[in-house]
Amino acid sequence: MVLNDPTTLHDWAAVPFKPLAPRPGRPVRLSPRLPQGAAARYIASLPKEALITVDLFAGAGGLSLGFHQAGFHVVAGLDIDPWACETYAANFLAVVDSVDLATVHSPRLLIEKLGLPRVDVIIGGPPCQGFARVGRGKLRSLRGAVADADERNNLVFTFARFVRLLRPLAFVMENVPDLQWAQEGRYLEQLIESFGPGYEVDFYVVDASSLGVPQRRRRLFLQGNRVGSRILWPMDSMSAPSVNDAIGDLPPIPAGASEEVLPYEGPCKSEYQKLMREGLEGEAAGIVTAHVTRPHGEQDQHIFRMLKEGQRYIDVPEPLRRYRSDIFKDKYRKLIGAEPAWTITAHLSKDGYRYIHPEQPRTLSVREAARLQSFPDRYQFAGFRSTRFRHIGNAVPPLMAYHIAMSLRRTLGVSMA
Ligand SMILES: C[S@@+](CC[C@H](N)C(=O)[O-])C[C@H]1O[C@@H](n2cnc3c(N)ncnc32)[C@H](O)[C@@H]1O
Repeated sequence: MVLNDPTTLHDWAAVPFKPLAPRPGRPVRLSPRLPQGAAARYIASLPKEALITVDLFAGAGGLSLGFHQAGFHVVAGLDIDPWACETYAANFLAVVDSVDLATVHSPRLLIEKLGLPRVDVIIGGPPCQGFARVGRGKLRSLRGAVADADERNNLVFTFARFVRLLRPLAFVMENVPDLQWAQEGRYLEQLIESFGPGYEVDFYVVDASSLGVPQRRRRLFLQGNRVGSRILWPMDSMSAPSVNDAIGDLPPIPAGASEEVLPYEGPCKSEYQKLMREGLEGEAAGIVTAHVTRPHGEQDQHIFRMLKEGQRYIDVPEPLRRYRSDIFKDKYRKLIGAEPAWTITAHLSKDGYRYIHPEQPRTLSVREAARLQSFPDRYQFAGFRSTRFRHIGNAVPPLMAYHIAMSLRRTLGVSMA
């Protein structure tokens, strides 16, 4: 088997980059950067050795980007959320469908409808809120009720159904580490069985920070194949860039900044920043997009200034507190510039208080959140500010996905072209 050339970070779309500057408060719209039919023509032109890959629950495409960078031909992204689909379509040369995967009767018909000749690899991150919400102890105590406790949990079985019916050579599914503890392990066992006969399956829990991402984020990956290969995983001993390494070159902005397009102002100060800016060419090389933040009142900004890096709401002096500090002790938290960030979550779309900038009196911008998730600056996100925060918080960091994808390449013995 041969894949396409190992790619550099941003070579997937050889099309002009057009930053959009919408009016403040309006959603960012991203028209697909490719002419109609380009994805279909691209798929038709793929060599027969190409490993055709489909991303289920594709979201904004973090997992897809990592697999793309590792040389897989990710040619379809499916997700129920139209804004996620708009983001996906603007960043990938792929067919995109806004579809409720839980209601798809025949995955095979869907694949035909999308114009794919076959599916070699399925990847995906079904929603994991159900597990994330309940702690491990609680999951244990719920025992058999867990599977039914939250309908969304069942989407992992929707993923398994697609594998069982489409029989790809290999698959990778991402989820939260708590998946391994549900029903004292039986849930995972049942899931592994539901991929169908003939699949070798293994799981692996890893922190994104040990794969070079400037963020502590533990995730579980399942890898399976039906070609009898022993499953390999990445070497997870890389050092993590810090928050400053990740975002320290972005121009200072005030709370409530709404300019979608800004000049970078200064040069890169770290290798990670260079990586993030790679692939921006022409007029796009000098500008940063989506560096927009929430507005904050004077009192909040005063608190943000007072807090030292790493401090939380409980450290706010009593007279300034608006919430009960016993319940909301973690409500505010100032990032530590010299360390990786804590997990960037979709909660960012509700409020950003757990992600106060280490030096500026405001919470993170959309672009800063994307950087901490290892999305390159070239990557564009559609929708309202809160939509973009949610998509970014939900994503698999592309750099993490890249290392997982490279380990799948080694599992399958796939050589470079
Ligand atoms: C954890 S996010 C996936 C993130 C993605 N893997 C990435 O790396 O960017 C889960 C996604 O599942 C989608 N989703 C939820 N229910 C769905 C359904 N029934 N059918 C299709 N997509 C669904 C959500 O819209 C969300 O984008």
